Amino acid sequence: MTNVKKFWEVRAEQYNELQWANEKTYLDALIKAGDFKSDQLVLDVGTGTGIVLHEIAPLVDEIIGLDISQAMLDHSNWQGNKFFVRRDISDPFFHEGVFDRVTARMVFHHIIDKTQDAANEVYRILKPGGKFLLSEGVPPTSEVKDDYEKIFALKEERLTFMPEDLIGLLENAGFKNIQPYTYIMKEMSVNNWLEKSGLEQEIQDEILEMHINAPAYFKEAYNMKISRGACLIDIKYAILVGEK
Ligand SMILES: C[S@@+](CC[C@H](N)C(=O)[O-])C[C@H]1O[C@@H](n2cnc3c(N)ncnc32)[C@H](O)[C@@H]1O
Repeated sequence: MTNVKKFWEVRAEQYNELQWANEKTYLDALIKAGDFKSDQLVLDVGTGTGIVLHEIAPLVDEIIGLDISQAMLDHSNWQGNKFFVRRDISDPFFHEGVFDRVTARMVFHHIIDKTQDAANEVYRILKPGGKFLLSEGVPPTSEVKDDYEKIFALKEERLTFMPEDLIGLLENAGFKNIQPYTYIMKEMSVNNWLEKSGLEQEIQDEILEMHINAPAYFKEAYNMKISRGACLIDIKYAILVGEK
């Protein structure tokens, strides 16, 4: 727990400056898939600094951000219809069947031991007919999955999901009418991602080098290009909506 606490304390400092996290077209894709309405109560799991929560807040009645990291929550804005709690989603806290929507962007790959417990808990706290909006970055093709895992192993302890793994997670939790969407973020700067990651310079350099010197199939899968000194790649995100 201490390592996890420290990890997020370091990341929290520059999290709001990450290009991918603020990319408007990604946030718009989430909003579109979520079908939010003005009478809804929403829970944003792993809300972090609240970037997704702030987009949803004007569209709904109330939204609660839940996160294990106080450091990340400290960078949130608590005004208006926004509330925050410091909890682990795997540990039951809310009553059964209270939320209209639960969202979780780029959170579940961090829930290493209790992944299914966390999905089951989301299912439990949703109202019947309520929806879970789950989004994760995924390898662009199965061919580059090993490369993807090697790169991320240098950055953090995490899970790698393919879209079908996420569908299985939702199905096992009991969700039905699962709708899978794909969002491609064009020309994400690997340099920005590394500079704002809180990683030691040595590791940043190593990850950048792995991109620059990657085999042709990797560069092609990521549509990689170098522009004005920056390494740009297209990132694939899976967005899934499951109904209780
Ligand atoms: C990559 S950040 C994503 C933040 C936000 N959802 C966004 O898209 O900008 C992942 C967040 O998940 C939180 N987190 C990780 N495991 C969690 C758990 N078991 N329960 C609640 N939050 C968790 C971390 O503390 C971190 O703030």
